[in-house]
Amino acid sequence: MDAKTKEAALANNARQFRKGIVPDEVRECYDNYAGRYDKDLNPESYLGPKMAAEALTSYVERSGWSKGKIRVLDVGAGTGFVAIQLANRGFKRMDALDPSEGMLEKAKTRGVYENFIQEFLTPDPTPGIANDTYDAVVSSGGMGEGHIPCGALREMVRVVKPGGLVVIAMREEYLRCTSGYENLEPTMAAMENEELWERLERSVLPGYCYHKDGLVYVFRKK
Ligand SMILES: C[S@@+](CC[C@H](N)C(=O)[O-])C[C@H]1O[C@@H](n2cnc3c(N)ncnc32)[C@H](O)[C@@H]1O
Repeated sequence: MDAKTKEAALANNARQFRKGIVPDEVRECYDNYAGRYDKDLNPESYLGPKMAAEALTSYVERSGWSKGKIRVLDVGAGTGFVAIQLANRGFKRMDALDPSEGMLEKAKTRGVYENFIQEFLTPDPTPGIANDTYDAVVSSGGMGEGHIPCGALREMVRVVKPGGLVVIAMREEYLRCTSGYENLEPTMAAMENEELWERLERSVLPGYCYHKDGLVYVFRKK
């Protein structure tokens, strides 16, 4: 991507997801953005889905699980980039959760998901998902202004089986510039103290999105 296109994409992102944007506005933005999303964010400019898939694959393999059998919930699934990466690595059982109908309509065309759940992930129990349903939860790009709130980390844990994995990939700078995310790592640490999960990995990786650094977290539910 040339410098001008990169700048335009970043400016568009900043404009759309301004400070204080609320979840319903975020959903509307993505509904409107769904047709252009894959053009702006492709595997060349946005490595988050690959990073998330690589991290999940690595821990699934270390756990000795069968990639074709385990159930994975892709939170903030968008148009399906993460599940495409997972499918390429042998995963077969992915569900997509996203509040945006437009993004999910695109995701449906990928042929990589079993089920589609059109909901926001919030601190409250997600309608239709029982406790301990999934072997893993994965999210790339789901964290951001007005996106997944810190309190929803507990919901990720609720839907994962004991011993299951939670993988989160996000822009590193969001820790400092996203409303409420000053509490993100303190919340993660508090959940560790409460023995809800243990952190297996926290990596800062270059080139997550438009050459911005990424953060990849991996947790295992206790
Ligand atoms: C930047 S896109 C990432 C999409 C996809 N995971 C990817 O990597 O291309 C963020 C997605 O998160 C979704 N989202 C925003 N808030 C959310 C929430 N509270 N719970 C779940 N998904 C949310 C948006 O609708 C959007 O599709």
